[in-house]
Amino acid sequence: KKLISIAIDGPAGAGKSTVAKQVAEKLSFIYIDTGAMYRALTYKALAIGADLNNGSALESVLHETEIVLVKTEEGQSVILDGNDVSEEIRSSEVTNNVSFVARQKEVRLEMVKRQQLLAESGGVVMDGRDIGTHVMPNAELKIFLIASVEERARRRYEEISLKGITADFEILKSEIALRDKRDSERETAPLKKAEDAIELDTTSMSIEEVVLSILHYAQERA
Ligand code: C5P
Repeated sequence: KKLISIAIDGPAGAGKSTVAKQVAEKLSFIYIDTGAMYRALTYKALAIGADLNNGSALESVLHETEIVLVKTEEGQSVILDGNDVSEEIRSSEVTNNVSFVARQKEVRLEMVKRQQLLAESGGVVMDGRDIGTHVMPNAELKIFLIASVEERARRRYEEISLKGITADFEILKSEIALRDKRDSERETAPLKKAEDAIELDTTSMSIEEVVLSILHYAQERA
């Protein structure tokens, strides 16, 4: 019997990757972090000085770019043209520029193609912005994770502080809000809840509660 596919979408910092990783682990499914793919391309484009607003230039870069997601103890490593860039792609420079790269339709077309190939055989948990709407429109289970921007900024702040980096809460909050605005208002495959997605507001839920809830839905649809 074919394994189901699970799509997890939602705004920045709603806990998608943390939750998706744990759900995949529990089900022995493959976890695919599509945001990491857009981040890797953004990192490379910034490094070589490509024009982030030029879709066809970015498309050419992407065609010569290999992005491999590797499962590790901690979750997932991102290998860009043979180099581990897992840390680098989380920098604030990449984070604040990724929406410009991700809005280019040429880029999305190729990324979606690659993502669909990875998801071909089912048994995947994929997180992103357009998974339920475009990448896996036939996924058996679609989750749309939301949380207040205040709570998402608080979580991001905590995560950054744990790494020993000092951050400004208000700046973090406005950066998250701005990224959501850009991702929601773009023309091609904007951040949007699929009609058949289940919306989970995680503002006052623990990670464990969210994971258990998704596993419950997954069981119903297996
Ligand atoms: O999930 P993450 O925050 O790592 O995603 C980084 C960015 O990549 C998002 O802000 C969005 O611009 C883009 N993205 C996207 N479609 C996806 C996943 C991510 O446009 N499926």
